[in-house]
Amino acid sequence: MRDKTDKIGIFDSGVGGLSVLKQFIKYLPFENYIYLGDTARVPYGNKSAETIKKYAEECTEFLISKKVKLIVVACHTVSSVAIDVVESISDVPVVGMINPAIKSALWTTRNKKIGIIGTRATITSMAYQNALRRESKNGDYEVSAKSCPLFVPLVEEGFINHPATKLIANEYLAEFSSSGIDTLILGCTHYPLLSKVISEILPDVELIDSGEQAAIFSLRLLAEKNLLLDDNGFSSVRPNVEFYLTDLTINFPEIVNIFLGFKVENVQVVKLT
Ligand code: DGL
Repeated sequence: MRDKTDKIGIFDSGVGGLSVLKQFIKYLPFENYIYLGDTARVPYGNKSAETIKKYAEECTEFLISKKVKLIVVACHTVSSVAIDVVESISDVPVVGMINPAIKSALWTTRNKKIGIIGTRATITSMAYQNALRRESKNGDYEVSAKSCPLFVPLVEEGFINHPATKLIANEYLAEFSSSGIDTLILGCTHYPLLSKVISEILPDVELIDSGEQAAIFSLRLLAEKNLLLDDNGFSSVRPNVEFYLTDLTINFPEIVNIFLGFKVENVQVVKLT
């Protein structure tokens, strides 16, 4: 049994999940967090399902060993390909990126034309597309999906508003202009950082930040299960996060700054295998 004072565990293939952590800090600032980034093995987005499942299992076991009260699968690739693995070995609730985003997209769309962008593994798994069909009860929704693999390295280079990013985004997103979507799910940890560039290309399209939807969903879930930490007297200006990485990459401080906008200390390096 878990207690409300236990931490929320969030894991990702690397640093991208910090965009999800940021949303959790925004909606649940009084909670305590453990963030695990598998920086030694990132990216997951172009690996096979078998490899992603193995990595997902190891990340989950690490968080379970830390006695977290909730596991958040911040990585969309893991949420698409290996959520069943995470759920099967977890003794606590698991929140992935897909279902909260799908629900939000279905509420948001007016013309029933929804787009999804993500890594190659996410898009080819059809997880988002299938979840949309399931959740809409096979309603007459038009779904178009596109993998945008270059967005991840561009964000990690800090090319957020860079001409190269705009050029590549134009190339990737052109088909959504012609398909006439009014809602686009940002199905990858890195894409919310490109919201401005994406909105310039698709000005009339509502963007769904899956991390934000997962945070809102988790807030409700923890409250229902009586696992929400009371925010009485919460006054900290700094979120309480323990950081674990599988490799301390050279540019980690700059990347943290891009994603979170503040410095982190006490990063611990762990081995998962
Ligand atoms: N975190 C991954 C995702 O959201 C992107 C980076 C990777 O390919 O591992 O799908």
